[in-house]
Amino acid sequence: MATYNIITYGCQMNEHDSENIAGMLEALGYIHEEDPWSADLVVMNTCSVRENADKRFFGVLGQFKKVKKSNPDFILCVCGCMPQQPRIVEEINKRFSWVDIVFGTQNIAKLPELLNLRQKTGKKQRAIVDNNPDITEDEMHPVRMHHHKALVNITFGCNNFCTYCIVPYTRGREKSRLLRDVVCEIEELASDGVREVMLLGQNVDSYKDALGNSFADLIKAVNGIEGIDRIRFMTSHPKDISDEMIECFKTCDKLCKNIHLPVQSGSDRVLKRMNRHYDRERYLSIVDKLRSVCPDITISTDIIVGFPGETEEDFEETLDIARRVRYDSAFTFIYSAREGTPAAKFEDKIDDETCHRRFDRLVELMDGISLEKNKEYKGKVMKVLVDGVSKTSDNTYSGRTDGFKLVNFTSDKTEDEIVGQMVKVEISETKTFSLEGIEVL
Ligand code: 5AD
Ligand code: SF4
Repeated sequence: MATYNIITYGCQMNEHDSENIAGMLEALGYIHEEDPWSADLVVMNTCSVRENADKRFFGVLGQFKKVKKSNPDFILCVCGCMPQQPRIVEEINKRFSWVDIVFGTQNIAKLPELLNLRQKTGKKQRAIVDNNPDITEDEMHPVRMHHHKALVNITFGCNNFCTYCIVPYTRGREKSRLLRDVVCEIEELASDGVREVMLLGQNVDSYKDALGNSFADLIKAVNGIEGIDRIRFMTSHPKDISDEMIECFKTCDKLCKNIHLPVQSGSDRVLKRMNRHYDRERYLSIVDKLRSVCPDITISTDIIVGFPGETEEDFEETLDIARRVRYDSAFTFIYSAREGTPAAKFEDKIDDETCHRRFDRLVELMDGISLEKNKEYKGKVMKVLVDGVSKTSDNTYSGRTDGFKLVNFTSDKTEDEIVGQMVKVEISETKTFSLEGIEVL
């Protein structure tokens, strides 16, 4: 029996694409192999959002040369965001001749056909498409990473063209799935034992299906599905979030009290140059609304430092907005120029040392706030959906609260008994990135 392994870089979209790819390979009879260096077929599902992802990818790609040498039947596939850029496919063809199959983000359903052609003809296969209008998600049978929670695409692509971002070029224009298709898929997931769904889109707030249903309509519909306990979504865009959606935090009991709301910068001047279509006042008013509708909502964000032209004053505004919002957690990034995006042509680049200094200051501030926020949970009993054995120690489990706090805790139950269950945990220790505790009955 032939074996496969998938190496996944990047966001949840890629993770979910990899689940779908696994589903197709298993339907062809392939069996999963834990170790990519021993598998008969490897798929590298790539990310291009920042430059270090490129570097890591080419490093690993290079190492597969020796695998191909020792096993001529070995098949190497590359997919995801990198090959959506023509220069990357050229580079693969020129420098990495041992790559058998290359496909993109918008034709993953083509993999079985490409594999068949590769095996029949012995020829390398290259198939990239842009702005594919066909949404193939409905025909997919993913092999899910977890039994109890699932990723569900609601939109594909992005129309926003933030000036730093490569995604609109690698995932094409935004398309929304029909509400009834999404609901149907989640009903099936629920009957399969799934308790938590994560609705995925680059900008979920601009979801609009062909029948005019909005993101709020979709949340309300999913809230009515029996068997589903928790609804999450990713990612929101401040320019499109509606009052009706915010109200869902009050009216939809299954909607988790948590939102990831990327701010990117606290400076109006920088936000304008990023083409974000909101200013700090609008952003802060959304946060106020969220907290007035749902006082215990947790909020996380993405922030970029060192965007071209960012002055010390601009950066201070970012620190200021972070202090005002008091985020539960934040993903902070140093700006990375992506070829083909408008910002890559901006001439007022910020030097590395300034970027790193600002990055360190921001991380210190954010970590301090996270720790203070987490301290508020000490002594409380929280409901936790258990994901698995904790990474840090064998006899502890880990899971997430409604507000997406990571909880590591001890319990007398076995792994089989507890994983996928909702349990109560009394919080005894609080750290910057996690809470610790003990299961209470
Ligand atoms: N440089 C740095 N960070 C970026 N992001 C997207 N593009 C870039 C870039 N060119 C960040 C944004 C986005 C997150 C997923 O990645 O903060 O929200
Ligand atoms: Fe990129 Fe902006 Fe689209 Fe997010 S909303 S994927 S940052 S272009």
